[in-house]
Amino acid sequence: MTNNSSNIPNEPLARVTNLTAAYQDRVVLENVSLDVIPGEILVILGTSGCGKTTLLKHFIGLMKPAEGNVELFGEDWWLLDEPERESIIQRIGVLFQNGALLGSRSMGANVAVPLEQHTNLPDTVIDRVVKMKLRKVGLRGMEKLLPSELSGGMRKRAALARAMALDPPLIFCDEPSAGLDPATTYNLDRLLLDLRDNLGLTMVVVTHETASIRRIADRIAFLDEGKLIFTGPLEDALTTDIEPVSEFFKMAGESVNS
Ligand SMILES: Nc1ncnc2c1ncn2[C@@H]1O[C@H](COP(=O)(O)OP(=O)(O)O)[C@@H](O)[C@H]1O
Ligand SMILES: [Mg+2]
Repeated sequence: MTNNSSNIPNEPLARVTNLTAAYQDRVVLENVSLDVIPGEILVILGTSGCGKTTLLKHFIGLMKPAEGNVELFGEDWWLLDEPERESIIQRIGVLFQNGALLGSRSMGANVAVPLEQHTNLPDTVIDRVVKMKLRKVGLRGMEKLLPSELSGGMRKRAALARAMALDPPLIFCDEPSAGLDPATTYNLDRLLLDLRDNLGLTMVVVTHETASIRRIADRIAFLDEGKLIFTGPLEDALTTDIEPVSEFFKMAGESVNS
């Protein structure tokens, strides 16, 4: 059921190479190279304003690099034509912090959006897919409710169902647990792990929550002042001497909220 994307088994699903990112003249990422490996949950860390969201925007083709390359499923994004981009867009799910649900549309109608935009499926089939996706995120039977009738955690899960509507093998999440309480965050993390383990999804997740990081991260990429200063397995991130990384985990360990 997963449309397993890349032809060569361990070829990265996404890759930025020597990426320099800028808003007008202001450089916010410098010479960043990072691969997304099939089947992993890659967690992007770094203090607020260090460029995490900017990096995600480059991975999904929303921002054009000032320098460097972006590849998705082995294709150089900025060399593709429109139809090729469209076909790749359908293989990426995005759960952005501010990518809110449409307030006037029911949960089901929200999840249906990508199916209406990118497929010619008849309504009856769309309804069936929507029900299936909502069930997958633990929202069975809630398709008629408005986003305002649900809790923050349920809205997040509905947004995830929408991101998964087209069965993308690769999902990008920007601070999915921002504003959620610890128990809700725990449940969302279980869901992400379930998607990785049972659907083989690959995920790139930006989060600050240490508890979350320890639960879900296979690998960490740590940004500091626009530079990628660490990439490696979670265990290595927890024991590294690289100062901003060790400081991050030390401070997080001392914080009551984490
Ligand atoms: N649209 C924009 N125009 C100008 N500067 C921006 C814009 N978006 C973000 N920035 C700046 O780029 C830097 C990185 O931002 P961002 O990627 O959002 O950081 P993070 O997600 O790590 O908090 C910040 O200094 C931010 O102020
Ligand atoms: Mg951000």
